[in-house]
Amino acid sequence: MIRRSLGELYESIREFLVVTDDDGVVIGCAALHVFWQDLAELKCLAVAESAQGRGVGRMLVDACWNAARELEIQSVFTLTYVAEFFEKCGYQRIDKADLPHKIWNECVRCPLFPSCNENALIRTVGAPATLAGTNHALATVEA
Ligand SMILES: CC(C)(COP(=O)(O)OP(=O)(O)OC[C@H]1O[C@@H](n2cnc3c(N)ncnc32)[C@H](O)[C@@H]1OP(=O)(O)O)[C@@H](O)C(=O)NCCC(=O)NCCS
Repeated sequence: MIRRSLGELYESIREFLVVTDDDGVVIGCAALHVFWQDLAELKCLAVAESAQGRGVGRMLVDACWNAARELEIQSVFTLTYVAEFFEKCGYQRIDKADLPHKIWNECVRCPLFPSCNENALIRTVGAPATLAGTNHALATVEA
């Protein structure tokens, strides 16, 4: 995951969704960054190790999708090393070259640029997403 300064995090704080446990401790987060009228990126997805495997990641991915739909955004993409996880959440693999150049602005700051092995996946309204939207309710999602 890309390192971010505290300032950057404050600037983008409203893009984040978090899951908290019963004590209000954050156990997972994800961000939805709007790129264009019809395109947003799901980024910064992370679940605390102690909370993994309990549906928190899927809950965050679903919540980002719902946030995009509220904005009437048709497609959400992600760049990730855990492609299989996103496939289980209804995303489909695409060629990274199919994404607009604008999305690479942040990648140039990554130590692995330009030869990272991240996979690009996308979910689009109307595309088959048979596994998406499954309810694994565990905690609350807060924006
Ligand atoms: C990847 C990650 C977000 C998954 O979160 P999680 O809360 O453990 O996942 P869930 O419990 O919601 O899992 C949902 C489904 O995905 C599967 N899954 C979880 N992690 C997976 C992985 N790494 N690869 C493949 N499948 C995975 C689960 O088995 C589950 O499948 P099921 O519905 O058939 O039972 C979490 O492991 C994590 O934060 N990893 C470290 C940071 C990271 O890699 N972030 C992604 C950067 S884009």
